[in-house]
Amino acid sequence: MTTGSASAKVILFGEHAVVYGRPAVAVPVTELQARAGVDEGPDGAGCTLVAADLGRRFNLGQAPSDDPLAHTVRLTLAKLGVRQEPDLTITLGSDVPIASGLGSGAAVSTAIVRALAKHWGRLLDPADVSALVYETERLHHGTSSGIDNTVIAYGQPVFFVRGRPPEPLQVAAGFWLIISDTGIASPTRLVVDDVRRGWESDRAHYEALFDQMGEISKAARASIEAGEVTRLGPLMVRNQHLLAAIGVSSPLLERLCLVARQAGAGGAKLCGAGRGGNLIALVTPETAQQVTSALESAGAVRTTLTHVSQVIE
Ligand code: MEV
Repeated sequence: MTTGSASAKVILFGEHAVVYGRPAVAVPVTELQARAGVDEGPDGAGCTLVAADLGRRFNLGQAPSDDPLAHTVRLTLAKLGVRQEPDLTITLGSDVPIASGLGSGAAVSTAIVRALAKHWGRLLDPADVSALVYETERLHHGTSSGIDNTVIAYGQPVFFVRGRPPEPLQVAAGFWLIISDTGIASPTRLVVDDVRRGWESDRAHYEALFDQMGEISKAARASIEAGEVTRLGPLMVRNQHLLAAIGVSSPLLERLCLVARQAGAGGAKLCGAGRGGNLIALVTPETAQQVTSALESAGAVRTTLTHVSQVIE
């Protein structure tokens, strides 16, 4: 079997504003992985995809054109120059919760691309992987900025502006985040569409809020590159206020952000599309346990501790 894997991601700053051309900061989460395995299948059997987590097993040839898993496989085979459907079994698995702001779709697609490339003995560079995964992201998300596929395919912290090559971030001093799940699935596409409706009804107001989010991303980048980690907490709090102002927070997200801060987190904010999904809280090894316990007592269904550093996968 040849295998490929990919990390989840969190957006530290700038989600939604990034769709409108403002910068955002995102990092991989190596603790949560999607995996793909490729095995030769029996002659003439075609290509079978098995996603046990999703209760799915299907043949590539019979999958509709907008099936995201099949779409990724078809695009990757085309990129590798494989003209005829190969006899393969592709087995998928993932620890990344779905529709929760952690890039589950992009992580699974990236794992598939990496596994298939390896099976054909090819090394695709991160820009090629990212471009392939972006095509599937557009099915999941509609208007996608490309940040999820970029941070996951490059596998390192990035400062990202839509339509430009990502700028790798130099993480001068590593830091700890708790990622905490509200347990409420929130498909990105619906939230992005709602924000667009808001923007269409009052462009000047939304543009001003997006400008402020973009400035926060720039300030966060400077802090990360200078190793001034404690500055990130107040920036998270400001970013969260702005996300609430564009209507993507929720009473539960607000409560959990407050609980995290009261328990000692330096700052907290939702991450990803919002409305549900996950939040992130800035912690230290000393505060991590008490913040985790407080979040779990307040209703978070899952918490993951991650260390942000100069990861390169
Ligand atoms: C989703 O992870 C991030 C959003 O900004 C959408 C996007 O950038 O495509 C909400």
